[in-house]
Amino acid sequence: MLCVAAACAVALIPITLSAVEDDSSPIFGVRIPVGYRQWELIAPSHETGSFNELRGILGNPIALKAYREGTLPFPDGAILAKLAWKREPSTEFPGAFVPGHATTVQIMVKDSRKYEATGGWGFGRFIDGMAVDRAQHETCFACHQANVKDHDYVFTRFAP
Ligand code: HEC
Repeated sequence: MLCVAAACAVALIPITLSAVEDDSSPIFGVRIPVGYRQWELIAPSHETGSFNELRGILGNPIALKAYREGTLPFPDGAILAKLAWKREPSTEFPGAFVPGHATTVQIMVKDSRKYEATGGWGFGRFIDGMAVDRAQHETCFACHQANVKDHDYVFTRFAP
């Protein structure tokens, strides 16, 4: 009986741990924020090449207030969400392009103390609601830092 119980425990632990890890990003522990799909649009974007994606960048009310008032750096509590879809030709109108299947949801959370080492931002990339691996999360800050250090590591500007 003891052996059976021990075997059960060993089998159950990894399942529990991986479920906990999956919806929060490695390194940063960022999760997809509740209600993000109702946030306001900051700007759309389009990446050509192999990504060939349409994106929508949304922000929570703290982020939107900072955009409107031109506040930099963004205050703690600001959250940015980037939603991406494959860009597909419309079947209903030639020349129009529409979102195909959703590829990633990416999140940046401002907490200047917790994420001091990465410009005050915590990063998370999710596919179907699950965080991608650690190696991908090691790339986030480096690219944002290399290109938009002077805009608090944020690429997106407010679309009028
Ligand atoms: C090679 C460069 C590069 C890497 C690596 C990268 N990003 Fe970005 N990121 C961009 C660019 C360029 C944009 C501007 C919007 C767009 O292209 O859709 C962006 C935009 C964003 C935005 C919207 C806010 C903003 O800065 O405009 C979030 C959120 C984001 N990235 C999260 C992440 C996360 C999370 C990772 C790591 C898993 C990551 N990024 C890695 C280039 C990068």
